[in-house]
Amino acid sequence: MPAFGSEISNLPFTDEVREKTEHLYDEVKSVIPRIEWEVHAPYIAAINDLKKEVGAVILAHNYMTPEIFACVGDFRGDSLMLAKEAAKTDAQIIVQAGVHFMAETSKILSPEKTVLIPDLRAGCSLAASLTGADVRLLKEKYPGIPVVTYVNTTADVKAETDICCTSSNAVQVVEHICGEWGVDKVILIPDQYLAKNVAAMTDIKVITWAGACEVHERFTKEDIQEIRAGNPGVIVLAHPECPPDVLAEADYAGSTSGMANYVKDEKPANVVLITECSMSDNVAIANPETNFIRPCNLCPHMKRITLPGILECLQTMQHEVTVEPEMAEKAKLAVQRMIDLPLKGGAQQNYMHDGNPKIFALEGRA
Ligand code: 13P
Ligand code: SF4
Repeated sequence: MPAFGSEISNLPFTDEVREKTEHLYDEVKSVIPRIEWEVHAPYIAAINDLKKEVGAVILAHNYMTPEIFACVGDFRGDSLMLAKEAAKTDAQIIVQAGVHFMAETSKILSPEKTVLIPDLRAGCSLAASLTGADVRLLKEKYPGIPVVTYVNTTADVKAETDICCTSSNAVQVVEHICGEWGVDKVILIPDQYLAKNVAAMTDIKVITWAGACEVHERFTKEDIQEIRAGNPGVIVLAHPECPPDVLAEADYAGSTSGMANYVKDEKPANVVLITECSMSDNVAIANPETNFIRPCNLCPHMKRITLPGILECLQTMQHEVTVEPEMAEKAKLAVQRMIDLPLKGGAQQNYMHDGNPKIFALEGRA
């Protein structure tokens, strides 16, 4: 078995590789120069052969680089869509081209399947900000209040959760669970910005946690004002993990797929996606008529996933992601409750608001 960093880092671009991959290059040539393609193509050919041979599917998040997203991903989308695909697929092996909490979610939903992640260091600042013990303390402090956690959390947090949410359904989930429990408050953790942006869309009082996404919290309203000043008429789309004053400057705010759908449906002439950098390449491939302004904030965790890493993962069946069965069973209830909620009209949540939303309480470790 070749080891990562030795033979497989020098796979040659042969005529056979060219033949197997040229149709894929046609798809991505607007964002990948030919000289770079010749480095990626041998891995793409090897991955696509091997995944068929071993019966694996690759779930690719919208933040993967285009050579992964467009060329080896079998299912592509936001974290809600990938969770749903993980639950549905018949494949016995799932390779998560995304971060660790996404792989854990796949394992929770499909405990009988082998779930692999190419790099165990692919974490998330939100998932790292909260533990199951933190959630238990919050439940003691706020008895009778439902706990909604973002999917960007570890399995032990999900096991303490009443229902999960993603950025595409958070308002709907909060309103649903509060209606079911007959209460007017919710614990929505760990992303304080998502929580504030949800609070702006509902009358439910939101208790949250001092967590943040290290990529989205860096955007400021001044960044957006500068982009608008330099690019008159540009349409600004933002992810709801951004601070509320950033969303107040945007034309639309929604999940990664919400933003991709906006570009597909509205066909803006000029657009900027206020989110992780690679997403613009992936949306640009599907929308060649739109011009993308590209501020570049990279997620260092998502960028741990590479083609050589995916190939090695399929060759060695490492790294397997496991969740202790009792914890997985509890966590599954929370994820499944979310999946079972139909999205209103199939629509993605739009978080547009113009204020400085108030939250009921901001909690954190002392
Ligand atoms: P989505 O649910 O919008 O795909 O977002 C996941 C994520 O990690 C955003 O930073
Ligand atoms: Fe986590 Fe932010 Fe990276 Fe998404 S972009 S995985 S929320 S650190």
